[in-house]
Amino acid sequence: MYNTIHNTLIIGKKIIYLPTCHSTNDIAAELVHSGIGEEGTVVIADNQTGGRGQRGTVWQSESRQNLMFSVILRPVSIAIEQQFLISQVVALAIYDMLREHTDQVKIKWPNDIYVSEKKLSGTLIENSIQGASISHSIVGIGININQLTFGIDRISSLANVTGNQMSLQEEFEKIIRCLDVRYQQLLRSNQLTKIREDYLSHLYGYQSSVLFRYQDKIISGIVTGVAESGQILVQFSGETEIRSFGLKEIEWVWNA
Ligand code: BTN
Repeated sequence: MYNTIHNTLIIGKKIIYLPTCHSTNDIAAELVHSGIGEEGTVVIADNQTGGRGQRGTVWQSESRQNLMFSVILRPVSIAIEQQFLISQVVALAIYDMLREHTDQVKIKWPNDIYVSEKKLSGTLIENSIQGASISHSIVGIGININQLTFGIDRISSLANVTGNQMSLQEEFEKIIRCLDVRYQQLLRSNQLTKIREDYLSHLYGYQSSVLFRYQDKIISGIVTGVAESGQILVQFSGETEIRSFGLKEIEWVWNA
């Protein structure tokens, strides 16, 4: 069970709690399509039977150990070409929440959150476009809180980081407050440069040498920025040219 969050402006005024569901993103989409998905509504579940990740992957999480929820947003002031800003504010909100526990947090482009080079959180954002604007955005977030073992490399949880089991309700309140604050920033047109600067300042590989897999080769390079479209800008070592890549074109390789 999760309680309504007080003192937020938009996000968390209405919480729909489900002990189990297929995917909170699917439930949030159904609410929107049936006309009852108010902006800021959060759908949260203890368990998902068909949790979805990016690029068609599955999001697996032990029941009642972690946070799995989706938020309905209607960022009507954001132009379609600027939709990566939604990813950026969500990544920053999760960064802000985890930063309360550790200074080892990094955003891994586009919006995975890593602590000490292990993934703690992933986001699946599904935007619906109507005409020239975003009619609604469903922001699905998974944050590993109390699960201790994963059976996959480079995945961890907040409990592993802090050495303590955490209160899911308290961590849920924290992330909802952080999302509300960052979402307010997105709605203020004079804050967009600040969002992009904050995102870059916490981005893994920004202005530092990291490894990529590109066209079946391992190449080192530095991330020089992220385009407004969301493409990552990379300068491979030995080159002067800056190349831009979408999600499926380049892969991260961790330094040994
Ligand atoms: C990823 O890193 O691949 C994204 C994972 C997103 C998982 C969350 S859990 C809540 C919401 N419901 C889903 O089915 N997926 C997202």
